[in-house]
Amino acid sequence: MSRDEQKTAQDGRRQEPPIHGPEAFEAMRKAGRLTAEALDLLMEAVAPGITTEALDKLAYTFAMDHGAYPASLFYRGYPKSICTSINHVVCHGIPNDKPLREGDIVNLDICLIVDGWHGDSSRMAYVGEVPRKAARLCEITHEAMMRGIAAIKPGATTNDIGAAIQSFAEGERCSVVRDFCGHGLGRVYHDAPTILHYVEPSYSVVLRPGQFFTVEPMINLGRPHVKVLSDGWTAVTRDRSLSAQFEHTVAVTETGVEIFTLSPKGLDMPRRPA
Ligand code: MF3
Ligand code: CO
Repeated sequence: MSRDEQKTAQDGRRQEPPIHGPEAFEAMRKAGRLTAEALDLLMEAVAPGITTEALDKLAYTFAMDHGAYPASLFYRGYPKSICTSINHVVCHGIPNDKPLREGDIVNLDICLIVDGWHGDSSRMAYVGEVPRKAARLCEITHEAMMRGIAAIKPGATTNDIGAAIQSFAEGERCSVVRDFCGHGLGRVYHDAPTILHYVEPSYSVVLRPGQFFTVEPMINLGRPHVKVLSDGWTAVTRDRSLSAQFEHTVAVTETGVEIFTLSPKGLDMPRRPA
């Protein structure tokens, strides 16, 4: 989500991240799993020629068939059930009737509400055969997210997550987008804590068992700067360099971290065509 939105969301609410108990963990496992299954379906549907609008319909139908609701639909006026962000689109691309083209990389982002609980996740998909540098960016971004998640344990801070992501991404000569962040979630879509994907010494929250949040870094091949197009949603890189993103919903546990949105089919990373 955007950093401005997250500030507004938190002003009216608690600043302290809520601590959840065992029943909430169970509910989030369900929401996270259904969200991951929806992404599995979308990952398998991506191919040259399919429109993002068709992917959106698939996601909406999947949600309805499973008693879930897509959180983004009508959220602050957003018109669709998923976000589809292609190539230099950083995030919040709106599905439309343009077919995907061989060589595109596309982020598929969905948040499903199941029994009132939110599972939020996104992955990159390859449209057919993609250029080497595009696949490399996707691999770096997935690895950056997983390193950020690996830094999560009780007593660590949100900056440990940001440091793990930023040091890895910048070490690979990529940049970390600053304008969008991860967020607490549970019964609400966007809650405390804010999860920055880079180090910000002036903001630090201590991680405690029972906190739920997303880790969703956006990594660019070029410079980190973004601009939002006139539709009010689509964020693109200012230098038009390629951008990638992955997102998981996680919990801090007594011993470390639990990921709620892992793919049951092992499709967390895009498969290269055989
Ligand atoms: N995962 C993104 C977020 O948490 C999805 C936003 S949906 C939109 O902000 F409706 F805001 F586009
Ligand atoms: Co999110």
